[in-house]
Amino acid sequence: MTIERFAVFGHPITHSLSPHIYKAFAEQTGIAMEYTAIDAPAPDFPALLERFAAEGGRGVNLTLPLKEIAFGLCSRTGPRAQFAKAVNTLKCEDDGWYGDNTDGSGLIRDLTGRQLLDLRGRRTLLLGAGGAAHGIAPVLLDAGVLELVIVNRTPARADALMDALGDPARAHSRYWDDLDSQGDFELIINATSAGRGEGVEFDLPLGLCNRMTLAVDLNYGEAAIPFLAWARSAECRNVVDGLGMLVEQAADSFELWHGVRPETDPVYDILRQHNALLVTVD
Ligand code: ATR
Repeated sequence: MTIERFAVFGHPITHSLSPHIYKAFAEQTGIAMEYTAIDAPAPDFPALLERFAAEGGRGVNLTLPLKEIAFGLCSRTGPRAQFAKAVNTLKCEDDGWYGDNTDGSGLIRDLTGRQLLDLRGRRTLLLGAGGAAHGIAPVLLDAGVLELVIVNRTPARADALMDALGDPARAHSRYWDDLDSQGDFELIINATSAGRGEGVEFDLPLGLCNRMTLAVDLNYGEAAIPFLAWARSAECRNVVDGLGMLVEQAADSFELWHGVRPETDPVYDILRQHNALLVTVD
């Protein structure tokens, strides 16, 4: 029996949890697969991907900074990837790579399926307008949020995301400096990469939160600490990091490759034991 090859590409990649997640999925489903982490600085990535395909690679995950570059290397893409112009999953097909973006579906599955939170009718604040924000914004609208207010350090990117969403009744861009006057939100999502920097603090108005507010950071581990520390200080009702989203988007990718969706709870539980800090859901 030949073992099919899969890999996550990124730079840096040493701390990626993906090999552990897919190993667990493979054991659980009895699907034989090899899954490795490949360090790929952006300039080297196209050649490394080509070599991986030539050596029999069947599927790929992408992480920073390769999601946009990988989008440009696909022969065919799904609608979510086309909106985000970024892919987190590649599947090898006869005529090249099929690219998809499972970040948004992963987020919704984690919040609604695992944390049992209802997103419908929530006034929502999205911090950030980069690749991660593009991956989740349309899915939030599909999930039935009441309004989506987008703020970004560089306002033009928030405007561009708002325009691309094409839902002027619900999606609006606002200036970060005007957050004080935006009222309160039932859902606040940090889709910025600010927490990955050194010594960053989120200095947001406490009045953004009300007694229902769910605060979500798409990051997990240390990168999620600054925003979730603010969310706790603002007494948000629920505080969730991106660990569950990570497992769910991986399960969606696994399903795209193998046609089987693995159970995510056992894998999430194991990862959570090592990342115990950040979820409080009542
Ligand atoms: P990703 O794929 O993680 O979304 P990205 O496309 O580079 O990465 O986007 C990073 C996001 O984090 C952007 O919204 C960026 O704001 P700018 O568009 O102004 O660059 C935001 N970001 C990064 N560092 C930040 C900081 N220190 N404060 C606020 N926003 C920050």
